[in-house]
Amino acid sequence: MLSFYLSKKYFKNVYFTIPIYIFIFHIIYILLLKIWDENEKINNIYNQILLLQDKDKSDNSNITDLSEGYFNCDYINKQNYTVNKYDKIYDLLDIKEGYKILDLGCGNGDWLLYLKGKNISATGITISKEQYLYCKSKKLDVYLMDFTKITSEFDGKFDIITYLGSSEHICNRYMSDNEASIYFTHVINDTHRLFNKKNTNKLFLSTLVWNSKHNWNLRDKIYRYILNLVYSGYYFYDNQHVQLIENTLDYKLETMANLTEDYRYVTIRDKFHTGNGKSVLSLNFNKILYFLYYFVTDPFYIYTLPYLIGEDDYNIWMWQFGGTHKNIDMKKTKESPCQCYWYVFKYEQHKSKNKFSNTCNI
Ligand SMILES: C[S@@+](CC[C@H](N)C(=O)[O-])C[C@H]1O[C@@H](n2cnc3c(N)ncnc32)[C@H](O)[C@@H]1O
Repeated sequence: MLSFYLSKKYFKNVYFTIPIYIFIFHIIYILLLKIWDENEKINNIYNQILLLQDKDKSDNSNITDLSEGYFNCDYINKQNYTVNKYDKIYDLLDIKEGYKILDLGCGNGDWLLYLKGKNISATGITISKEQYLYCKSKKLDVYLMDFTKITSEFDGKFDIITYLGSSEHICNRYMSDNEASIYFTHVINDTHRLFNKKNTNKLFLSTLVWNSKHNWNLRDKIYRYILNLVYSGYYFYDNQHVQLIENTLDYKLETMANLTEDYRYVTIRDKFHTGNGKSVLSLNFNKILYFLYYFVTDPFYIYTLPYLIGEDDYNIWMWQFGGTHKNIDMKKTKESPCQCYWYVFKYEQHKSKNKFSNTCNI
């Protein structure tokens, strides 16, 4: 009745009754009462991405990586930006024969597969059942588990731990800034027990952060809200979380680099990339069934489509990086709402608590 009344009053017709009803339903049940389990939501979104992604890529590279590429500043000519990325991370982490890598939030297993190709032992953890099954089908060593609650069977086994585009999921949008800081520090601190402490132990994060230098207007704030709602994670501002790690934990920052344009541009160059909604929209029979299934079973689904489609900064996912424009404009990228950083930390047991200081670009 309320939605009928609001539709009549504000739109002078009854056509908006159902959208208003859905809107009120969402506000009350999902946003205010917070009845939805975040882990289930993350499982859902990554299942959806995998099932709706076109895996039959025209270049047969079959790369299903879900985060940034690495162009090494050559955005126009550089090919193989995903393999470039793995090569670069491999070098930065100084991975050697016999090392064991644990990839937390392993996605569709592209990094695990790359490491396997180099004869490096690699184990992945994901919370998405479909990703888990997909990785298993590629004969990868993968576990279906919450990476904030890793069981003790993994203790003391690994040289290197990587979070590639996944540490944004450690905290969630229900947490206050203070709660997120405490929880994030607790989870990262807990990674110590996974190291074998024989070789140099390193932690790699590639992560998205909000940019405090961006001029935040009302539209930005609404977009940020929808993005958090669909993506279901928590971004820190600038380098806050790095300061937390450096100042309170036994980790020392070795390398830090800004890859925001590398994240934005991979979706321009690769129409199969997750951020490029058009790949999801090239429909086939299976996809239509999945769309219908998710539309009925997932109350967040109505937010997902406007999140992906649209051009330039009307695409909510791409808005955060400065939009889908084809020009390279580093000034615009630097000012965009969100930035992508790589961080390499070295584990130093009982290190003195230094101030955040040691940053260098690669
Ligand atoms: C943006 S994707 C990145 C995937 C992959 N690393 C890549 O770069 O292609 C985030 C990944 O984190 C995983 N993830 C999110 N929350 C998780 C949790 N609590 N436990 C385990 N995996 C989680 C998701 O399932 C997904 O695989």
